[in-house]
Amino acid sequence: MENVLTKTRKELLEDLPLGIKQLFTSITHLKEGEKVLVITDENKKEIGEFVYKYAKEFFETTMMVMPTREGHGAEPTEAVRAAMNNCDVAFGATTYSMYHSKARLDASKNGRLRWVGLQDYALHMFEKGGLTADFDEVKEVIDRVSEYYQGNTFKLTAPGGTNMVCSVKGRKPVFDYGTSREPGSASFPPNAEVALGPVEGTANGVLVFDGSIPHPLLNLLDEPVICKVENGFITEITGGREADILRKILADFNDPTVYNIAELGLGLNKENYLCGHMAPDEGSLGNIHIGIGKNLNFGGHVDSPLHLDLVIKDVTVVIDDCSLMKDGELLV
Ligand SMILES: [Fe+2]
Repeated sequence: MENVLTKTRKELLEDLPLGIKQLFTSITHLKEGEKVLVITDENKKEIGEFVYKYAKEFFETTMMVMPTREGHGAEPTEAVRAAMNNCDVAFGATTYSMYHSKARLDASKNGRLRWVGLQDYALHMFEKGGLTADFDEVKEVIDRVSEYYQGNTFKLTAPGGTNMVCSVKGRKPVFDYGTSREPGSASFPPNAEVALGPVEGTANGVLVFDGSIPHPLLNLLDEPVICKVENGFITEITGGREADILRKILADFNDPTVYNIAELGLGLNKENYLCGHMAPDEGSLGNIHIGIGKNLNFGGHVDSPLHLDLVIKDVTVVIDDCSLMKDGELLV
């Protein structure tokens, strides 16, 4: 890549945003001659066009625009599905995540695609924050923390009032390094995390969400959203305006599985900060996101129409006798 850049597009290199350079180098290890696909939708075209503008100078690049889908995990159009199978790296610069779509999963299984989700992006994310991280260092941190991120009893507290206990017995840590370097891999940079799925029915206590809820109707929170947790499920939601919105979003599913405590995702990219966008918020160091709904990716057996992440700030995490994090500071 360095070669291609210096030889052919010197002037573009000069104003190449660091985040764009990272997408082409340390995140994907793109090589000369590889085929790039940029997928975008009507709502996030600005992001798609920004990535396309640079990618086309270095790689054979195609951009496809489709109508905005209805939510996370929804299927793309037929033509996009076909294109996903015929490229080396695809950037999904869309409103909602395609990570869990059948089209993405099938294309990754076919063994060629390196998938990079850029859903819910803003232009400032290419200039500063998590995308500028040293992703080799991020991987080292994740590998180190994950050795301690397992055990029997998981205790979570935070200055905002969170106090919850659950069992994680038998559950293995799930990583996201924020990179897609091997064929078949998929990531969601600058998110970087290690996650665990609590054993169903075991979570009890209170969760006070005071960071963000990455959802088009919520994002950065003005007032804490307080959730009572009993035997693995959220049973009561209180707070202000944002609590009312969350209560309605969940009630509209009319499906008890959406209240399931599904994921304990510890953010581990120190360059991320809470900004109301999904990837940096979920991958921000010192904070945890609690996923609710579907937990199939985390060793569980609950299928649900929803997987929604909610962020708690400056957490203290104790697994059995090991303190991993205190008030947002990593101890291992
Ligand atoms: Fe997560």
